[in-house]
Amino acid sequence: PSGFHTIPWYPTPLGGTSSQWKESYAKAQEMVRVMSIAEKVNVTTGTGWQMGLCVGNTGPAERVKFPSLCLQDGPLGLRYAHNITAFPAGITTGATWNRELMQQRGFAMGNEARLKGVNVVLGPSMGPIGLMPAGGRGWEAFGSDPVLQGVAAAETIRGIQRNGVMATAKHFIGNEQEHFRQSFEWGLPDAMSSNMDDRVLHEIFAWPFAESVRADVASVMCSYQMVNNTYACENSKLINGILKDELGFQGFVQSDWLAQRSGVNSALGGLDMSMPGDGLHWADGKPLWGGELVRAALNTSVPMERLNDMVTRIVAAWYHFRQDSWEKPAPEGDGGPNFSSWTQEKVGRLHEGSPDNDATGVVNKFVNAQGTGADAHSVIARKVAVEGTVLLKNVNNTLPLTREHPPSDVKYKIGVYGEDAGPGEGPNSCADRGCNQGTLASGWGSGAVDFPYLVSPWQALQHAWSTDAVDVREYLTNKVQPEDLLHQDLCLVFANADAGEGFIRSDGVDADRYDLFLQKNGTELVEGVAKYCGDGRGKTVVIVHSVGPVVMESWIDLPGVHAVLYANLPGQESGNALVDVLFGEVDASGRLPYTIGRSMEDYGPGAQVVYEHTDPSVPQVNLNQGLYIDYRYFDKFNITPRFEFGFGLSYTTFDYSTLGVEKLQKKTQHPSPRPKHEVDPPEYDKRPPNPFTGLFPTGFRVLRKYIYGYCDSLEGTDPAPHQYPDGYNTPQKPSAAGGGPGGNPSLYEAMLELTIEVTNTGTRAGQDVVQVYVSFPDDVAEHRGLGWSRETIEFPKRVLRNFEKITLQPGKSKTVKMTLTRKDLSYWSVRAQNWILPTEGKFKIWAGRSSRDLPLVVEF
Ligand code: NOJ
Repeated sequence: PSGFHTIPWYPTPLGGTSSQWKESYAKAQEMVRVMSIAEKVNVTTGTGWQMGLCVGNTGPAERVKFPSLCLQDGPLGLRYAHNITAFPAGITTGATWNRELMQQRGFAMGNEARLKGVNVVLGPSMGPIGLMPAGGRGWEAFGSDPVLQGVAAAETIRGIQRNGVMATAKHFIGNEQEHFRQSFEWGLPDAMSSNMDDRVLHEIFAWPFAESVRADVASVMCSYQMVNNTYACENSKLINGILKDELGFQGFVQSDWLAQRSGVNSALGGLDMSMPGDGLHWADGKPLWGGELVRAALNTSVPMERLNDMVTRIVAAWYHFRQDSWEKPAPEGDGGPNFSSWTQEKVGRLHEGSPDNDATGVVNKFVNAQGTGADAHSVIARKVAVEGTVLLKNVNNTLPLTREHPPSDVKYKIGVYGEDAGPGEGPNSCADRGCNQGTLASGWGSGAVDFPYLVSPWQALQHAWSTDAVDVREYLTNKVQPEDLLHQDLCLVFANADAGEGFIRSDGVDADRYDLFLQKNGTELVEGVAKYCGDGRGKTVVIVHSVGPVVMESWIDLPGVHAVLYANLPGQESGNALVDVLFGEVDASGRLPYTIGRSMEDYGPGAQVVYEHTDPSVPQVNLNQGLYIDYRYFDKFNITPRFEFGFGLSYTTFDYSTLGVEKLQKKTQHPSPRPKHEVDPPEYDKRPPNPFTGLFPTGFRVLRKYIYGYCDSLEGTDPAPHQYPDGYNTPQKPSAAGGGPGGNPSLYEAMLELTIEVTNTGTRAGQDVVQVYVSFPDDVAEHRGLGWSRETIEFPKRVLRNFEKITLQPGKSKTVKMTLTRKDLSYWSVRAQNWILPTEGKFKIWAGRSSRDLPLVVEF
């Protein structure tokens, strides 16, 4: 209906073509070879909503010793578990711009998952990529830029997987808004279609997934909605074409929960695992796979080769991360999940969702996964929260604050204002953090966890000064009276903005925000405090906790506002981290992972959530503005933001002196030809299986709603000639852009090495984020069609391509080295269906402190 349609891409490329995975595939082949059809299907299909202890549980293949896998959220820590860490959210992690910290956080998260018996962590999230500032789930991911997302996702994946736990890159792809992400949640016959052209897909939305594949991610989760009018989980172009062919993905694709909308089509489209295994509705007991996939494989509507590939990909991933060496799951061993998502009690039901199996057992062993001593995960959580705090305004060095106030008859008076500074009713008062009360440390939904504790700002601040000289008081409400302000010397005011996942609506926020203002009267609170603090002579410091950008035009320039700290979503160590920054124990070193505009409209029409849809047609959401995501849009239309992408102050100053370029390779338009497969994928017996092995064994106790890999009859299992989807019988040519992890290895070769000299010109140690942006040459053109007419290729003014965070003592300099790859200097040519590096004209390479503060530039 919109003109956006998916191109068919068949058949699914087989896994097992890369040398890194060779051994894992060889082992997987040995195991899959002897599996029955029912065992194969069992491994590909979840056992149904709430049938196991985790949010997702696959069926086992016990005879060959392949266990049920536990899949658990999420991107900021382990959901529904005790004695875990509530880490800072993805967006806070993005704001650190610190690769090492990103990986350390991932490592700690993976360690917790391992200790809890989780095989597959359902994170990190890199989609939504953050095109829509009001989108409900942008905070789970790392910021509105493909390179920032890609780096943070890759580091997180490496960290998680170093523990032998599988990570999941999600949501593939285009789930930029929560409205209409699903049909059933939003009362429509079908979910929305997120539409994008081929160039936007490559240069923006798929970029972080390419980086995830390069980081060896085990799993990818396809998203709920449609892309170009085909559901993402049956979108052959996306899964078969982009992910498995072009990006060379060797792991398995799992559906988001009920994002699978067809049985045969999703199998042919490239899906490998159905989650949570139910059919079109929660716990409906009518799987799209399970017994139906047995039937489809027997009657050949899903070729046996496809089923073999699905299960081989899953088993190979399990071997690849050495999960075969894990202890055996209960009852024999402790290798399975030792917690239940469905109860806080020690003893609970083993199959919560089953209407006819009441078996109970010890489900929560309360294993402490938080690390101890120097390895306590709270340490890393605090560091990320500290470095993810962005100093936006600091008049006359108001910050850092001092603890020392000379004892005097009149005490220095400090007031702490706002509900967001306090504990409220405790961090877990609403399920899945689905309400905004007390201090905001996480958004809501499956990407949230049960907080083990939450250090509120007030808890950390109340003892921060000596009571001899300072009188500090709290007013933990958003309704503050002038008389509570008039006598203060310093006012710390807290306000926030919350959002989350589509299954929860709270405080007038239907998952996506409707505006970008502070919530719960926050704007009025800040204005009032700034006005009355010390009767106009006090200093006001504003602290914002938010899921994304907040419009602050009405208060940012008020004379009373002396400093602003943007603390994002800091997780359990909120107050401690804030104190570290407020008092300058650590430099303020966060940088904005998105632009703070002066209005929501400033982000452009294509960056607005589509909130309205009433008729039964498929809501169409055009994401093509993605090429001009965030700062790229502001740059293109010369819109002055309030604070630009990459911006953040430090307590010291940095000077940028030289930018050197060393050319490592000659410019050539095309990458090297796609290399051949390094290894051949496994082959299996071509003879059809015995259909009887797909039937429930006699005497098998079948539970209602539970999903099995067995058929209940042979009806419809006879092999028959099938009408495969359009394009199935004319297999696609492998993409010239493929051939290695994340794409053609030639794309990831360094073309340039940059050297940037940075000096700390201030008086204290500090951290800076050295950012490199690229402008493409002007007048790049391609022939159009067969004629001579030429079409100019448009480029954003500048795009982020690399960054490095450094620490410098006062007066010291450092030479920072960074490379740019062929891909960094190429655009996706829709015509050539490849990455093209313009060889005529000059690139400009910029280095500096933010997307708009780039003192150094060279040509290439
Ligand atoms: C739906 C969410 O979109 C996804 O991110 C999550 O992993 C699953 N539910 C499981 O909770």
